[in-house]
Amino acid sequence: MATILDGKAHADRMLEVVRQGVEARMARGLRAPALAVVLVGDDPASHVYVRNKAAACAKVGITSLEHRLGADTPQAELDALIDRLNADPAVDGILVQLPLPKGLDSKEALHRISPAKDVDGFHPMNQGLLLEGLPGLRPCTPTACMSLLAHHGVDLKGLRAVVLGRSEIVGKPMALMLLEQHATVTIAHSRTKDLAAVCREADLLVAAVGRPGLVEGSWIKPGAVVVDVGINRVEDPGLAARIFAGEPKKLEAFQAKGAVLCGDVRFGEAMDVASAVTPVPGGVGPLTIAGLLTNTLQAANQQG
Ligand code: GUN
Repeated sequence: MATILDGKAHADRMLEVVRQGVEARMARGLRAPALAVVLVGDDPASHVYVRNKAAACAKVGITSLEHRLGADTPQAELDALIDRLNADPAVDGILVQLPLPKGLDSKEALHRISPAKDVDGFHPMNQGLLLEGLPGLRPCTPTACMSLLAHHGVDLKGLRAVVLGRSEIVGKPMALMLLEQHATVTIAHSRTKDLAAVCREADLLVAAVGRPGLVEGSWIKPGAVVVDVGINRVEDPGLAARIFAGEPKKLEAFQAKGAVLCGDVRFGEAMDVASAVTPVPGGVGPLTIAGLLTNTLQAANQQG
């Protein structure tokens, strides 16, 4: 049986470090770091994320400032809000919650955020610094996954890592961070030929594609470390029966509630093959917010 990598426990450790950093700032007579979150429209998942962010901020003493705009907000209005937040000395970090409603250009918004306040690490300046291996604000999820791996003593040097997924938010930055730590990195994706065989080469498999239960036990090399970034809601009974065949408790929960969260990896099958696996929920999910608050403290400290 594999070890379960407890993301919640590691997120709590990261949040404790942030809390102490906030306290140290206040002891120097500085104000608490402030994170501005911009939420446009009424995507239900986004509302849940934003609520969780606000709760985590409160726990560590970071000021959370919410800006809600209607789904029909014109681009110029969103841009003007970002300009105001960029210029506001009481704001250290700015996060525009994605996805934006149709009609709004997320690239335009993200490129407009001052790189010094870009706590998501999505601005081309911060992406460029990461590419060069220089310090800057880096995307929250991969940063926190790297921290989890370091905490569990996973030695990345020379390791064969496969990152499944090529998003700007997780896949690409994760691949760069693993490369920086001397792993041999393959980025695989939906067009990769013989995906299962590529995954089977991995000593470390990071799945970030948003496809429930895509990675089967037979795709995993015995003894591999598996990091499951996917958070998917499964509502289809046929799919649930297939992907939860090795997880009677999950199947029971599905039958009771009609829907459950699951990752990109078939957790029950992975537990029989891998040496360590992150669960969903309770794995990478809580780490993302811990990464965001770590970045917010970093942004505040760099701005004085
Ligand atoms: N929506 C889902 N994940 C993210 C994220 O990491 N950052 C932002 N801004 N929006 C998201």
